[in-house]
Amino acid sequence: MLTHTRSDFPSDFLFGVSTSAYQIEGHAQGGAGPTHWDSFAATPGNVVRAENGDVACDHLNRWPEDLDLVRDGNFDVYRFSTSWARVQPEGRGAANPAGLDFYDRLVDGMLERGIKPAATLYHWELPQPLADQGGWRNRDIAERFADFTRIVMERIGDRLWSAAPINEPWCVAWLSHFLGQHAPGMRDVRAAARAMHHVLLAHGRAIETMRDLGMKNLGAVCNLEYAAPVDATPEAQAAAKLYDGIYNRFFLSGIFSGTYPDDVLAGLERHLPKGWQDDMAGIRQPLDWVGLNYYTRKLIVPDNGPWPHHHDIPGPLAKTQVGWEIFPEGLHAFLIRIHGAYSRDIPIYVTENGLANDDRVTDGAVKDAKRTAYLDAHLAQVRRAIDDGVPVKGYFAWSLLDNYEWSLGYDPRFGLVHVDYASQKRTPKDSYKAMARALARK
Ligand code: NOJ
Repeated sequence: MLTHTRSDFPSDFLFGVSTSAYQIEGHAQGGAGPTHWDSFAATPGNVVRAENGDVACDHLNRWPEDLDLVRDGNFDVYRFSTSWARVQPEGRGAANPAGLDFYDRLVDGMLERGIKPAATLYHWELPQPLADQGGWRNRDIAERFADFTRIVMERIGDRLWSAAPINEPWCVAWLSHFLGQHAPGMRDVRAAARAMHHVLLAHGRAIETMRDLGMKNLGAVCNLEYAAPVDATPEAQAAAKLYDGIYNRFFLSGIFSGTYPDDVLAGLERHLPKGWQDDMAGIRQPLDWVGLNYYTRKLIVPDNGPWPHHHDIPGPLAKTQVGWEIFPEGLHAFLIRIHGAYSRDIPIYVTENGLANDDRVTDGAVKDAKRTAYLDAHLAQVRRAIDDGVPVKGYFAWSLLDNYEWSLGYDPRFGLVHVDYASQKRTPKDSYKAMARALARK
């Protein structure tokens, strides 16, 4: 049961639910071009059963039913993303009219249902032609991204409630170019450093472009992971601090302070593009809000490997289907810290939070009490941060639907609504019903 209801939060607090394009739309339809996730998934060893986003939740055709679920769940906001390769199949040049028409109808569909549209321009499926030219390692990507931003926003920007350029810069850069777990699957510190810088450069150019179009309520969405030293030794503490630097501080500091942290620069500076300092003023654009995606914590272990001389291990707390520890207190800690050190007085939104669970439909129901408890425990931490004076203005659950969980394929189920991929039948889980009850306006 959810112990929190809408009335436990300030009257202007918004509740939302998040998805992303490649994870739900069905990328093979509607004239979208190939992406680096298609080629990554097709390369053996990268993705469980080599699954990809070709069909996913067939949201491209079923979006009216899916938006009805957002409305009937009593959510105020729907956070979705626009697929670059659906809008510009070549990653540059001519737009695909069917792609723009789709997002146009989707936004109107939200407004017709009384749902606020919150757009993210990039949630990871880079057009393959751009990947072939070096992708995020190539500085030119920032200009290509600004062009894409203009094309999308000239069409839908007038009706959005909010917009953010890039979902989770750490995943776009480090997870994909240093850890090799996401497309393009590189394990190269120099590639990672360049991607880290260029993803922020692209963020800055997109914000500039949207301001130029007169858009309002623009923000950034960062993922945060709580780094706990494996023990009390100075080595473990230093390792956790550096993990936090690469994961959390690098991106927040770039976006909000126009600087990169010294401890991260110590390892990365020689790999950054020459003259990177000249870009920092453009990266540090005034923002109207910041979004935090929060799921878990990691225990950090120092090691003798190459820089950054550490690795992470799961800790002893209860875990989700994907092995992530459940650590709600970390969300409170981040809300306090981001408010104090970076975002100051602008609103903070929890733009993603949720849990993967091995959910099954039995007699037409999905009993996912574990998800409801997870959401409730994290809502308690949000409430606590509000009491502590942090301007948290909204909370979004990840995700509306079970969907494509990237390199883990379709096994992890993050949805409030179950999807039977064979029939595409949607079955609201108990957690969805609990949220709908808690969010009903009296
Ligand atoms: C973060 C990402 O934004 C989303 O794409 C992913 O599915 C969830 N976290 C769960 O891993």
